[in-house]
Formats: sequence, structure tokens, C-alpha cells
Amino acid sequence: MKQGKRARDYLGEIESELTRRFGQKGAVRFFRAPGRVDWLGSHTDYNQGLILASTVDREIIVGARLRNDKNLNLYSLNLEQEFRTGINNNVPDPKQVWANYPRGVISELAQTGMEIPGMDLVFYGDIPIGANLSSSAALEAATLEAILGLLDRPMTRWEKAFICWRAENFFVGMPCGILDQFTIINSEKDHLLFLDCDRLASELIPINFKPEAKSKSASAEVRLLVIDSGIGRALVKSEYKKRVAECRQAYNALRKAGFKIKNLSRLKPGQLKAVEKKLVPTLFKRVRHIVTENERVLKGKESARKQNFSELGKLFEQGYLSSSRDYENSITELDLLHDLLAEFPGILGTRIAGAGWGGCLVALARKPDLEKLQACLTETYRKKTGHKFRIFPVQTGDAPGELEAR
Ligand code: GLA
Repeated sequence: MKQGKRARDYLGEIESELTRRFGQKGAVRFFRAPGRVDWLGSHTDYNQGLILASTVDREIIVGARLRNDKNLNLYSLNLEQEFRTGINNNVPDPKQVWANYPRGVISELAQTGMEIPGMDLVFYGDIPIGANLSSSAALEAATLEAILGLLDRPMTRWEKAFICWRAENFFVGMPCGILDQFTIINSEKDHLLFLDCDRLASELIPINFKPEAKSKSASAEVRLLVIDSGIGRALVKSEYKKRVAECRQAYNALRKAGFKIKNLSRLKPGQLKAVEKKLVPTLFKRVRHIVTENERVLKGKESARKQNFSELGKLFEQGYLSSSRDYENSITELDLLHDLLAEFPGILGTRIAGAGWGGCLVALARKPDLEKLQACLTETYRKKTGHKFRIFPVQTGDAPGELEAR
């Protein structure tokens, strides 16, 4: 992507790539879905816990049109990779993993009994890949929007989130919770989404942090920064699965020991002393993270209602410590960046975005001087890690939908 250009500047390229590769016939329509950033609630979703998250103003766009045959043609402009198959082929391909996300959505839709014709889909996005801003769930959600739009089929947002979640769990093979898909599909611009994954109750909280706002209010000076460590997330799949298994193990051990809980998120902080006696230290740390993280989400929800970003920043910080110490989903480079950021004026708090083990940190900052921040940290980070990092401010983004024809 060229400097300063965003995904929406590429509609022309998407369309010409689609017609050049897959034929001239039929009008191309454009659909999109945003990425997401979790504000609080790290690894709580698959423990039926609480989440506070928002969309980001970065997105995946898909140029789409139906075909008269049963062929499925996919192309990613970002990866410059093509995948051609039959619309009814529901065997995941281990070599073209990116294509498994849209294919998973098609396969899940087909399992609901929907008749799906052949189609051409060309994707382009400005969500950094592998940075923990959930380009994968955005890919699923954009595909789903496109299919439902082209076939003119209605579906509730809840159903959409679960179709995408199923695609990721059962086609892609990643045993994730519902955080990414639910946030991307159910949240709105200028809002934070609160979700209770057990009761499946959600709430939108208006949030006001627009850096360009002319307003003199304190919240207008606050920025949400994504700090990309430049480190890929090679460990994610194996470590993530390990944490899911550890939580299950801890739950089973506690049930056996007489805790009558429906899930780990039903534990209260006051029970942690008793829990510690029943678990080996590693499992206890995992549980302590889940329990305290759920508490932070509840506090964060109240802080968000009051637009109190200093309080939210403190919760980010506590969340980071808990992730790093108890859930152990940080890595040296993220720890280093976190510590460097903590010294910088205006940083209210920093935490690990998404799954962790690489990818991004997310920080709340009041009136940060971004150029100075980049300049101050670059040298130390490069010297100590050999890597480059980037900072970019984000805002909340629009919910998925169709883009006006060009
Ligand atoms: C990934 C998963 C989510 C969630 C987060 C950690 O983003 O896809 O379901 O578990 O990690 O909170």
C-alpha cells in the first residue's frame, strides 16, 4: 500500500483485478468490514467472561460478483495470491490459509441450507496482517456481507457473528472465542462494545475521542495508539491452544474440588485464596488473570461511561501486568516497548492487543507527540531487538456493510 493511501482508495484496482483475472461479465459490488481492537478483556471470551472492545478505522474491502457457474475465484491484492476452486469444495487448504477464511464462511452458510452460486471475490485491506487487529475476522465478516448482499438475504447480527466464529473454529481450525467476530459485526463507530460472553448480553457505550475534534474537551485530546512491534505471531496458534486447554484443565480441577461454577468467569476475586490451594501454580496464574481481567472490564465499562480515559489507562496498565505475569502471552519485545512507552509523557496506559505473543500493543495517550515518540523509541528498540516498530493512531470504524458504487 502506498503511503497515506487507505483501502477505499483501491476500489479501482480491486475492480480491474477482478475483471482482468476472472472475466468481464457482470457489475462488481463492494462490501467491507472493519478490524477490531480489544480495550479490556484479554482471553476472557473463551472463558465465558467479559469484554470491552471497539472497531478500528481500518478495514478489508471485497469486490464481489456472482457467476453463472459453480466456480469460486478468490484473489488477495495484499498477498498477490489467487485461489480457484468449486463453490462446494469444503476441504480446507493448508497451503493457502488466507483463502480458508472466506471459504469457511461459504461452507458454514451452505450448512444452514443456503444455496450458494459461484462467485468472484477480490480482497484488499489496510488492517496490518498478523498485528492482532483481527484482519482474519474482518476477512470473514466482509465475505459474509458480500454473499448476503449479492443474494439479498437478511440475517441478524448475532447470526452473522456466529457464522464467522464457526468458520474460524471449524474450517480454519483456530479454537478462538467470539471477541473478534462479535465486535466487528455488532459494534458501531464512536462506541465501545461491552459483551458478557456467558449471558450473551451486549451493550454499546458512546465514546468520544476524536483527535481531530475542534472541541476543547479533555477527551478530544486523547488518542488510541496501536504500536506494532513488527514481530510476527509464530507462537500464537500453539500457545493459544495451550491456554484454552489450561483453562479447561483448571475448570475441571476446580469442579472436582467442589467449586460449583458454570465457568471460570463465575469466580469472584474473594475466592482466589481458596482456588490457589486447589491448583498447581501455573493453572492458578491463568485463573487469577481471568478473574481479575473480568473485574477490570466491569470497572472499565464505568470509566468509559464517564469518558474517564485516565482511569481506563490505569486499567490498561493493570491488564498488561496481569497478561505478562499471569497469562504469559507477552514476549520480550512487547515488554520492552511497553516499558519504553511507560516513560513517555502523555501515555495513560498500554496493554497487549488480541492474543499476544507478538503483534501490537494498544495505548491510550493524552496529547502525545507522535513524531517525538517514534524518534525516542526507535533507536533503543532497534538496537535491542533488531526490529522496527510503527505507531499509528486509530479511531473507531464503521460497522460492516456495502460501499456505494463508484
Ligand atoms: C484472539 C482470539 C479471540 C480472543 C483474543 C484474546 O484475538 O481470536 O477470540 O481470545 O485472542 O482475548
